[in-house]
Amino acid sequence: MDATSQRLLMCRPTYFAVDYAINPWMDPSAPVDAALAVRQWEQLRQTYLDLGHTVEEITPVPGLPDMVFAANGGTVIDGKAMAVQFRDPQRADEAPAYRAWFEAAGFEMYDPKHVNEGEGDVLLAGDHLLAGTGFRTAHAAHAQLQEVFGYPVITMQLVDPRFYHLDTALTVLDERTVAYLPEAFSPGSQAVLRRLFPDAVHATMADAEVLGLNAVSDGRHVVLPAQATDLAAKLRDRGYETIGVDLSELRKAGGGPKCCTLRLRQGKASK
Ligand code: ARG
Repeated sequence: MDATSQRLLMCRPTYFAVDYAINPWMDPSAPVDAALAVRQWEQLRQTYLDLGHTVEEITPVPGLPDMVFAANGGTVIDGKAMAVQFRDPQRADEAPAYRAWFEAAGFEMYDPKHVNEGEGDVLLAGDHLLAGTGFRTAHAAHAQLQEVFGYPVITMQLVDPRFYHLDTALTVLDERTVAYLPEAFSPGSQAVLRRLFPDAVHATMADAEVLGLNAVSDGRHVVLPAQATDLAAKLRDRGYETIGVDLSELRKAGGGPKCCTLRLRQGKASK
């Protein structure tokens, strides 16, 4: 299996906290170790560097505790960047901060017309864009994504509030394969997934409950939460190398490795 070296965007969790609840993982009354959150995030960043990926950083903004979840900052494919529009007012101000970063980095900018939470809900799998809806990204946003990026968009209906973003229920492993939790999707979306990916890895609820599917693959190495041991074993059986990381503090906000990571796809060659 070939590993592709990736250009990634991350945001240091300097101002990370759980002060509001916009998903079932978040409990503002539960303690969070902010210093540990930073150390765990640094380990994730170092893991990417050790794999030969390039990590760029956006400056965190005070008062935006969820800004660490860079996957929600945009969708970047073939040098085009689509900015985001959050469902919840608590995260609204992250959108212009990420937009400004993409613009300064020279991407061709597109603005969202509907609620669109970026790579949290939009995953490129081979030649298809899988787009989640049901909790965050609006169904209407899917048509705009297809128009902007020119990839066929496949709507994925999410049904379990714990798996509110597509990237909490499905991981793209390489151009042909995904791993997912079937129960997180509507019956119709499950049928579509079986049709498109007959060889997919099916995760268990136990793996999904530790956000095991919130993983980052370069086609060969899969970085995933250390607690997702069954999923890691299944991936190794398929020939992937797995690297477990502990993001226990960020999980208290409902995020894992993929949420902290936005893939910057420059052009066709590095798709
Ligand atoms: N607290 C954040 C929210 O609910 C977590 C976002 C996680 N990001 C992701 N790509 N799944 O919006």
